[in-house]
Amino acid sequence: MSDPMRPRASLRTAVVWDVLKDALDRRVKATGQGPDGAADGGVGGHGAPGGLDVLDTGGGSGNFAVPVARLGHRVTVVDPSPNALFALERRAAEAGVADRVRGVQGDVHGLFDVVERGGYDAVLCHGVLEYVDDPAEGMRNVVSALRPAGVVSLLAAGLGGAVLARALAGHFSEAHRALDDPAGRWGEGDPVPRRFTAEQLTELVQGAGLRVGAVHGVRVFADLVPGVLVDTEPGALEALIKLEAAAAELSAFHSVATQLHVLGETPGAAEATAAPAADEA
Ligand SMILES: C[S@@+](CC[C@H](N)C(=O)[O-])C[C@H]1O[C@@H](n2cnc3c(N)ncnc32)[C@H](O)[C@@H]1O
Repeated sequence: MSDPMRPRASLRTAVVWDVLKDALDRRVKATGQGPDGAADGGVGGHGAPGGLDVLDTGGGSGNFAVPVARLGHRVTVVDPSPNALFALERRAAEAGVADRVRGVQGDVHGLFDVVERGGYDAVLCHGVLEYVDDPAEGMRNVVSALRPAGVVSLLAAGLGGAVLARALAGHFSEAHRALDDPAGRWGEGDPVPRRFTAEQLTELVQGAGLRVGAVHGVRVFADLVPGVLVDTEPGALEALIKLEAAAAELSAFHSVATQLHVLGETPGAAEATAAPAADEA
């Protein structure tokens, strides 16, 4: 999703986008559903030819849905906000992918009132579990939307990143409150209802029957570095994006990341993308 017109935006999304794109590419290879409109007849082909079926729960105005559609996949966005769905429609049209993006009003708890159970190769759940009443139920619905071989891209607010950000802004009591609060909130004015540790998110993913493929810390430094350093130093933005990518992989940094990303795979998907045995290689 690196948009050359919005380099600062790519600082916030590059880690997630790289992991997501790689996961989708692996599903394309495993299913044989090439993204150019022509299935290449590989193993496990299904559904309409040409790209994967992707569901973006709480996909909003299409920050991820539109770039995913630009890869050649069909994306259904479920979101309760009519305004977000309107913006999505406009954005998809501007990007020339209106025929591959469908917006549906609904929410993750009533997901199967509006979309098919077991109908998707990949389900995105980005920035949503913070807001739902029951994250475990939301996660189970996300997983139930998958085909037998499918992947989930889960992104949610990290507890440690919020504590660090409040402390560095001089709000020490709020930082302490977030640290002690079971929902990770720093006070009544906190707009985020719930934050997670990496352990809580991986438990949610595993509890819903998926294998954890990878965990990444997102925006470890991006929200803490003064903008002027990034905007005025030549090459600073690119260097910071590379630093974010390197730190994202290290569990030591997961505990201070603003967001956490977990890639979950059904047992069927994990098998399909496992390294071939030595005698098959
Ligand atoms: C922080 S935004 C994230 C949007 C998008 N996923 C992204 O990464 O840019 C949260 C989105 O979740 C949606 N949302 C809130 N509650 C929801 C629910 N119960 N089920 C599905 N989506 C929900 C909101 O309307 C909003 O579009």
